[in-house]
Amino acid sequence: MCGIMGYVGPGQAAPVLLDGLQRLEYRGYDSAGIAVLDREIDVRKAEGKVERLIDLTKTSPLNGSVGIGHTRWATHGAPSDLNAHPHSDPSGAFVVVHNGIIENFYELRDRLTEDGHEFTSETDTEILAHLVAEAYRGDLAAAVRSAVAQAEGAYALVVMTVHEPGKIVAVRRISPLVVGLGVGETFLASDIPAVLHRTRDFLIIEDGELVIVDESGATIETIEGEAVDREPLHVDWDSEMAEKGGYEHFMLKEIHEQPAVVTETLAGRLEEDGSAWLDHVDFDDDFARNLNRVWITACGTAYNAGMVGAEIFRRLLRLPTSVEYAHEMRYADPLVSEGDLVIAISQSGETADTLAAARLAKERGARLLAITNVVGSTLSREADDVLYTRAGPEIAVASTKAYMAMLIGQYLLALRIGAARGLADSDLADRVIHGLHALPGDLERLMQSEAAIADAAKRLAHAEDVYFIGRGLDYAVAVEGSLKLKEISYLHSEAMPAGELKHGTLALITEDVPVVVVITQEALYDKTVSAIQEVKARGGEVIAVAYEDDDRIGRFADVVLRVPRTDDLLGPVNAVVPLQLLAYHVAKIRGNDIDQPRNLAKSVTVE
Ligand code: AGP
Repeated sequence: MCGIMGYVGPGQAAPVLLDGLQRLEYRGYDSAGIAVLDREIDVRKAEGKVERLIDLTKTSPLNGSVGIGHTRWATHGAPSDLNAHPHSDPSGAFVVVHNGIIENFYELRDRLTEDGHEFTSETDTEILAHLVAEAYRGDLAAAVRSAVAQAEGAYALVVMTVHEPGKIVAVRRISPLVVGLGVGETFLASDIPAVLHRTRDFLIIEDGELVIVDESGATIETIEGEAVDREPLHVDWDSEMAEKGGYEHFMLKEIHEQPAVVTETLAGRLEEDGSAWLDHVDFDDDFARNLNRVWITACGTAYNAGMVGAEIFRRLLRLPTSVEYAHEMRYADPLVSEGDLVIAISQSGETADTLAAARLAKERGARLLAITNVVGSTLSREADDVLYTRAGPEIAVASTKAYMAMLIGQYLLALRIGAARGLADSDLADRVIHGLHALPGDLERLMQSEAAIADAAKRLAHAEDVYFIGRGLDYAVAVEGSLKLKEISYLHSEAMPAGELKHGTLALITEDVPVVVVITQEALYDKTVSAIQEVKARGGEVIAVAYEDDDRIGRFADVVLRVPRTDDLLGPVNAVVPLQLLAYHVAKIRGNDIDQPRNLAKSVTVE
């Protein structure tokens, strides 16, 4: 977790660092700090968001054209001014920022304490400053290598010293790190969008590499010291895409981008005859034909997208497919074997649990296919095949458009595999292909019903508990709707299969407990209606998400949020949108920080 920045150039470092940190706040935002080198190193830190740090630097400015910065998501030590990065060695000559966890922190700190070192913070990071200073013999890169050799874990580290002004040394051990190449200036950042408005040329630092940055560019070596030749990556993203674009929050903007995201994710990939052409998905037809089993692994919203994906694979291909939480799968000794396809889904491509499950799958001989939104992410580089979701940068912590793109990616993938091994139901496949092309228009229309959804949000905003129910694919959507509500509204909410309600949870349904019901799956319609009746009989209020031409639902539900009709297998694509908007408007009524909800971070790069 955390966002890191570095700058070497002719200009003032502080404004560049602060601006970059604001763009990285989605990675963590409980405290922030920068260090700038003039003749000495000057540090400013503040608990809270980067805005507070900016205020501090207004009253207490920093001068210098070399600097490093950090926005934190606490792991070791509570959020505080003291625990905020950067951290220095006792002399103040070395300063570090760090993203990730030092696993042998206690061991190292005990050893350093015995040697007489004193620490001013509770962080694992501070020991890195001590280790670098201890090892320094006139060569910063060598001292960083020595520190990294001692510090186990997954992290990215950035170091600066008064002894070698004009230079920054950084290391990537799993956690992401990129170098932005400007004209006469060079940037370090946790991700590309942080400096995309300053340069479009990047060096992606790989796991196990060290980079020495000065104003003329960067030199990459392995941690062991071998030279690495890396071609810069030219990034075409429109920097406007990373801005709010007139919406009050990134989340709302990202919800409204979904019609375009579906268009983008489909673009050039789906022929009218149903053949899917997926760039970077390289398995051949033989592999698809001989496939016995598919595993989908992911966390959070990506897992919820995988729940839909598993059903797509089962229905379109009759292929045994299971969906596993990555954090469970990695320790469950899963029966993955050679010839299986493991699909790891991750918006960021950096989620530690998902990467671990993906690596396990590869070790067991499975073919690893990544569905990810971030080009150059760790997952994309480790996978045999990659399906990029093309959702553009997603800034809000609550994932919306990335979920949508993950769904579309999984329909495409099923069609690609089906083209090789045959589709279980060609009529269903035709309806899906036709429906996919119609989706962007459907979603545009759906966005116009936002006012009705905002109105329904008033019914939930002051509840204490909310339940989400549905059956089959409707249940998968209910799970995602419930997660969205929890993470940004802070309301207690739970999703369950509608048939499960009567087995216990019904005891909690009273007139104060609203129930959101997703009801799009025709084959299960009457069963879901029975669950609605059970809720109504206990006085519970029912908000239903149903097709726009469903003329029965009005008899059972108190409020109906309508979505365009599509084939039931595509139902989740439309049905999730009212739930995203519902969560957004409830959180807004409750006055919460929608884009950066408490206790959460966009990219969970620690176990
Ligand atoms: C979704 O709203 C959450 N922010 C979270 O559940 C997220 O989907 C999860 O942490 C996985 O992230 P990833 O897709 O980047 O792997």
